[in-house]
Amino acid sequence: MKIADAPVFRRFWYPAMPLAALADGPKPFALFGEEMVIWQAPDGSVAAVRDECCHRSAKLSLGWTQNSHIVCPYHGWQFDASGQCRIIPQMPDQTPPESAYVRPYFAQTRYGLVWVAVEQPLAPIPDLPEADDPSYRLIQEFHEVWEMSLFRLVDNWFDLSHVAFVHQGTQGDTSRPVPPEETIEETEFGLTSYSEVLVANRSEGKLYTGIETDTTVRRRLVTWWGPNCRKLHITYPNGLQHVIFTTATPLDDKRIIFTQMCIRNDSEADVPAADAIAFDRKVTLEDKIILESTRADVPIMPWETPEQGMPADRPAMRARRKLRDIIEAHGGMQAPHTA
Ligand code: FES
Ligand SMILES: [Fe+2]
Repeated sequence: MKIADAPVFRRFWYPAMPLAALADGPKPFALFGEEMVIWQAPDGSVAAVRDECCHRSAKLSLGWTQNSHIVCPYHGWQFDASGQCRIIPQMPDQTPPESAYVRPYFAQTRYGLVWVAVEQPLAPIPDLPEADDPSYRLIQEFHEVWEMSLFRLVDNWFDLSHVAFVHQGTQGDTSRPVPPEETIEETEFGLTSYSEVLVANRSEGKLYTGIETDTTVRRRLVTWWGPNCRKLHITYPNGLQHVIFTTATPLDDKRIIFTQMCIRNDSEADVPAADAIAFDRKVTLEDKIILESTRADVPIMPWETPEQGMPADRPAMRARRKLRDIIEAHGGMQAPHTA
């Protein structure tokens, strides 16, 4: 199945763009085929409404902001964050009718990003306590398009057996192909997984961890908030905590925005942010080339033809089962499109 096949996925938060992208005015964005305009009000809050004026259908994203309103570029009608038209300049003495209205979406800022949802969200934006902890620093890493299904990224988050092969240029080692056991627990919309993984610690790894030995152990606590957010909290033997927060926004069946940041309990003097980013860059590009080679349709539902498997796929299969549970608990699949 593809992510647009199940309406429930319209009910989660997805990053649209860095907040800084709104500094020079409103921006268009589309999620699940819904074209929206996103803007920032003077108080810092963000809003998103349908990118189509209810007067003569001009794109509001070609307009500008005035106070907390979005101004249509065609005849200057002004809309608030709820989508209600508040000012019609050609009727200065009258309150615009309630019918002068465009559809609002859900919009919020968190972690330097603008997040949007098409329908009432089922869960909040994930809470990352380290992001507000002064003993940690947050480093923005990547915000870019990857040509893959979001579901393949979910598989990858619960796939320790790829590390030895895909990441042999960084922390992987093909002489240790059998992954360790994971302890998995279920949450309302996701899973957590704990494991301890022996990894190679090559030159960039040494810069990144501050550890001199040629191997090291990652204690990994994964928190997945389905469908699209994953926190990987790695504790190294020297006390370094490296939190990787990754989130994906589906642009279509085989295109996501891949957004990643890291949060660490060391300082710029210990490990420059550029070194942390360089290592995570290399690792993510190792994943990207493989994941972009995979098919967009992923068998999630019982009637779909399964792929071949092995015992090491069990954590990823639990994630797929969780996705299926979410779909079945919230409206199932929509009727297939007819040609
Ligand atoms: S089309 Fe928007 S004000 Fe006329
Ligand atoms: Fe990977």
